[in-house]
Amino acid sequence: METKVKIENLSKHFSDPQRGLVKAVDNVSLEAFSGEIFGLLGPNGAGKTTTLRMMATLMRPDSGSISIAGYDTVSEPQKVRRSIGYLSSTTALYPRLSPREIISYFAQLNDYPSTELVTRVEKLISHFGIQDYADTYSEKLSTGMKQLTSIARTVVHDPPVLILDEPSTGLDVIVAQKIHHHIFELKNEGKTIIFSSHNMGEVEKLCDRIGIINKGKLLAAGTPDELREISKKHYMEDVFVFFVREYEKEIGYEKKEAACI
Ligand SMILES: Nc1ncnc2c1ncn2[C@@H]1O[C@H](COP(=O)(O)OP(=O)(O)OP(=O)(O)O)[C@@H](O)[C@H]1O
Ligand SMILES: [Mg+2]
Repeated sequence: METKVKIENLSKHFSDPQRGLVKAVDNVSLEAFSGEIFGLLGPNGAGKTTTLRMMATLMRPDSGSISIAGYDTVSEPQKVRRSIGYLSSTTALYPRLSPREIISYFAQLNDYPSTELVTRVEKLISHFGIQDYADTYSEKLSTGMKQLTSIARTVVHDPPVLILDEPSTGLDVIVAQKIHHHIFELKNEGKTIIFSSHNMGEVEKLCDRIGIINKGKLLAAGTPDELREISKKHYMEDVFVFFVREYEKEIGYEKKEAACI
């Protein structure tokens, strides 16, 4: 398996007027391989979006590095952008464009060969089941239709790495299952998929490996079975709580030690 994503000692902080210094991402290191689905599992405010935004070259790390498909996100951002498809959790579609137009537009933005463009767009429209509303203004589409269109436009240039921020949040179970099915297909094509979620069941179902993140810290990473084995818990929810509690204990010890000095 080839390493497609390598994150080393990544940190990012924000200065918030109310909260002071917020360590959004705190010394995170992880790797993901070709043909692998890696899930970042964490509660609200854990640092998932900040990590994914830095991977997508939309934000510069304070320290540490990210390599995607062998390219560095800070020194080679253009090459990274060509190697990724990024779906943000707040992705909006142009209201007065149809899915067909949006998918074509993103293919052009990503320099998809013009001779093959129409064939590619039509293939995706059919593959993602968008045919019935392919020419409707996107402002008239349901949340599920919009999300399927967004995913189609994220993969249109056939990048080796997909970064999906909460791809199924807010969707009904039927659309969520369709999206899970597409994520599995992309894995079987050999893509690397990094996605974020706070849905334990979804992460357990989809992921080859899971990274548990809380308050900016990556507390553990491994296959669902490895995480179960370490925590001696069966359900992912209990596994998650185990790692959070262990970390809090560790911090407690650190504080006690500091107080003794
Ligand atoms: N631009 C910003 N300015 C100040 N603080 C920020 C900014 N962006 C994120 N943060 C803070 O960084 C932390 C991590 O946020 P982030 O959005 O990465 O979390 P998340 O895991 O994606 O959460 P969610 O599940 O709610 O999407 C939070 O405390 C958040 O308030
Ligand atoms: Mg987020």
